[in-house]
Amino acid sequence: MAVYTKILGTGHYVPERVVTNADLEKLMDTTDEWIQQRTGIQERRWIDKDTGASDLAKPAALKALEMAGLQAKDIDAIIFATLSPDYNFPGSGCLMTEHLGIPGTPALDIRNQCSGFVYGMQIADAWIRAGVYERVLFIGAEVHSTGLDVSTRGRDVSVIFGDGAGAVIFGKSESAEDGAILSTLVGADGAYAKDLMVEMPASRQIPRITKEGMDEGRHFPKMNGREVFKVAARKLPEAVVTALGKCGKTVADVDLFIPHQANLRISEAVQKALGLPDDRIYNNIMRYGNTTAASIPIALDECVRNGKLKRGQTLAVGAFGAGFTWGAAVIRF
Ligand code: COA
Repeated sequence: MAVYTKILGTGHYVPERVVTNADLEKLMDTTDEWIQQRTGIQERRWIDKDTGASDLAKPAALKALEMAGLQAKDIDAIIFATLSPDYNFPGSGCLMTEHLGIPGTPALDIRNQCSGFVYGMQIADAWIRAGVYERVLFIGAEVHSTGLDVSTRGRDVSVIFGDGAGAVIFGKSESAEDGAILSTLVGADGAYAKDLMVEMPASRQIPRITKEGMDEGRHFPKMNGREVFKVAARKLPEAVVTALGKCGKTVADVDLFIPHQANLRISEAVQKALGLPDDRIYNNIMRYGNTTAASIPIALDECVRNGKLKRGQTLAVGAFGAGFTWGAAVIRF
């Protein structure tokens, strides 16, 4: 009997502190107009006290469990996608087993930046269909705000990123009609590594971090925004069309498309390339900024809870980010 993977529940959590573009104007030389025009972002959430990615993930996971009608002990494995883990090591997935009171549960941290959700979903799907695990908790969670250069020097990057967490519980489905991941596709190209990276601390360097390097701001994210924009606007639609083709579908079959919330202008370019009408794409970057691995699961949870995505509908997701990495997937919800 064929086994498929379906989404059993979703949840998200963002910190309470709202940081508007006007708030950023007080920290750096920028304007609300510049930020909205280039990125579509109006506000984002930043933590206001010591809070790790796993702390944001806990309430998101609990909400997803509640929607699925499950308890934490029902989870067989955790996949935690983040580029901003609580500590350098151990991974935030390990911390989740303590947060949820499920010691012994296997926990895998993955480092695929903005494409973390699609990479994680592909792993969860393979585990479930191979019979390794029955129920997998995926988490995408980021605390960007403590790692941003909020001076004018870092303004191109720091206005974009926000903190938040999204969770999705994947489980077994016995018929494709009852919900299924229909196809997944992921890719990476390290030739672009330096176009979006945090260089320090680096184990390849002796010592890993220097005062000099910090004075130069090399421990903050650096981005070649134009290159990111150009490659994302090409790769994302390509990945979505290929993922649709892998399961015999076209853009016309997509009820809802959720792009990674990198930048509203990128999402608009992708929408145009795919020829999707406004009512079949969902964006929330205006309210949260770019939350990297959390962005698709946060948007997905909003769509499930506000009725934009209903059981039986076809969902497509597409992601692109540092690495460069990218991915797309098609899901019958
Ligand atoms: N506020 C005001 N001015 C800013 C600014 C800010 N926050 N950030 C940069 N600028 C300035 C630059 O210093 C530059 O000034 P100059 O002309 O005097 O040198 C000017 O604005 C234009 O900068 P440029 O980098 O050419 O702007 P851009 O039109 O390429 O827009 C991005 C910059 C970052 C908005 C754009 O490249 C982008 O959206 N890239 C994709 C980024 C992304 O999605 N990243 C997430 C990946 S997952």
